[in-house]
Amino acid sequence: MAVDVLLGLQWGDEGKGKIVDVLAPNYHLVTRFQGGPNAGHTLEFDGIKHVLHQIPSGVFRSDIVNVIGNGVVLNPIVFKKEIEALLSLKVDISENLKISNRTQLILPTHCLLDACYEEAKGENKIGSTLKGIGPTYQDKIGRMGLRVGDILSPELEAKYHKIVKRHSQILDYYQFEYQLEESNKLFFEAVEFLKSFDIVDTAYLINQALLDGRKILAEGAQGSLLDVDFGSYPFVTSSNTMVAGVCSGLGVPPSQLGEVYGIFKAYCTRVGSGPFPTELFDEIGERLRAVGHEFGATTGRPRRCGWLDLPALKYAIMINGVTQLFMMKADVLNEFDEIQICTHYKLPDGRVTEQFPFHIDEDQITPIYHNLKGWKQSLEGLAQFEELPRELLTYVDYLQQELGVPINVVSTGPDREQTILRDQILA
Ligand code: GDP
Ligand code: IMO
Ligand code: MG
Repeated sequence: MAVDVLLGLQWGDEGKGKIVDVLAPNYHLVTRFQGGPNAGHTLEFDGIKHVLHQIPSGVFRSDIVNVIGNGVVLNPIVFKKEIEALLSLKVDISENLKISNRTQLILPTHCLLDACYEEAKGENKIGSTLKGIGPTYQDKIGRMGLRVGDILSPELEAKYHKIVKRHSQILDYYQFEYQLEESNKLFFEAVEFLKSFDIVDTAYLINQALLDGRKILAEGAQGSLLDVDFGSYPFVTSSNTMVAGVCSGLGVPPSQLGEVYGIFKAYCTRVGSGPFPTELFDEIGERLRAVGHEFGATTGRPRRCGWLDLPALKYAIMINGVTQLFMMKADVLNEFDEIQICTHYKLPDGRVTEQFPFHIDEDQITPIYHNLKGWKQSLEGLAQFEELPRELLTYVDYLQQELGVPINVVSTGPDREQTILRDQILA
């Protein structure tokens, strides 16, 4: 058995939570391998909408083991809130959740530092979710972080206060105002809560599961264009959101990777700062945002909207070795007369490229578009690929041709039922 991977191929919010929930019944384990509470993964079923931040999206399927891997950064305070929210819905995952002892902990001062650094960047700010992601990964790479396994040590408090002292010195240097007493208290309460969960070496757990023939799904967070190495740096997150992150974030060898499901919206969105070549500032952009309810699941910020960007998508498919594509939010385009697809970028020197450049300066890049006719009808109630409107099938065929990878799912609404699968899909 192998680890199948589900990744967002754009700037996040492609609909990963929904699709993990749809695929989960085919798997024994659902795992998170990077990111943290910056993620907001939405699932909808039985008329209820759930947003998960740190907990894997397999939790609503009772027989699945959910794993928070070593590559994740975990905020215990957010974790406690998320578990309590699930309990209030009578979803008890205490038996089915395993947390790596190597997962890094987000401290309250990491969140303060995030805000402090953003403020200091002024106009060049990243537009971080301010969940402490960057500073926590900085401490990890700087070999100064605290890990979940450390909460079982009698030295936890001493280690914690040593880190907080170091962070406070930085905050003072920036003359950043803060209050710590309440958050220290909340942190230690949440740590006590966290102790009641299964904290294990998840690399052994996952590799044993593979030996036992169990099927594993790795759930990406963020999107490939936010990858710290390959994304639109510095306007990225601080982890490897691409397929390689699965190996380092779970302890899985590359030879054990199976299908790579790449998911993308039928258009593009982005939250926060950074280049976005196909961004629309006109009435069409407004319409995409309104019809697609494009507001951040974590911060509520309006998402920037634009047409589908094939150079960016091809790049994401290339670096991830995507084997199957899933197209999300097709229904958002239902009423458009015409759909535009960016096929190439025109550079300032007149050259035309379909590569994702090192330096993307939107003012300097002119997207070249291919136009297709819209389908101008609702997708409500459609269940089979063959029933999709002709113009939508033309859109899908055109993209498959361009991208060289089959599109095996078309999503037609937020509910788990609004998912049209091609027969041959799935490992
Ligand atoms: P994630 O971070 O990749 O899990 O995506 P988010 O949950 O942040 O954002 C995706 C949003 O689109 C959520 O509000 C979903 O409920 C919604 N959604 C997912 N698939 C579809 C779809 O096919 N159509 C529509 N209209 N909404 C969808
Ligand atoms: P999901 O998993 C969309 C963006 C932020 C900011 C940049 C850095 O729901 O797809 P960070 O908080 O990581 O320091 O922010 O990355 N960002 C996301 N955008 N979806 C996400 O997660 C995101 N996580 C981070 O808006 O531009
Ligand atoms: Mg999201």
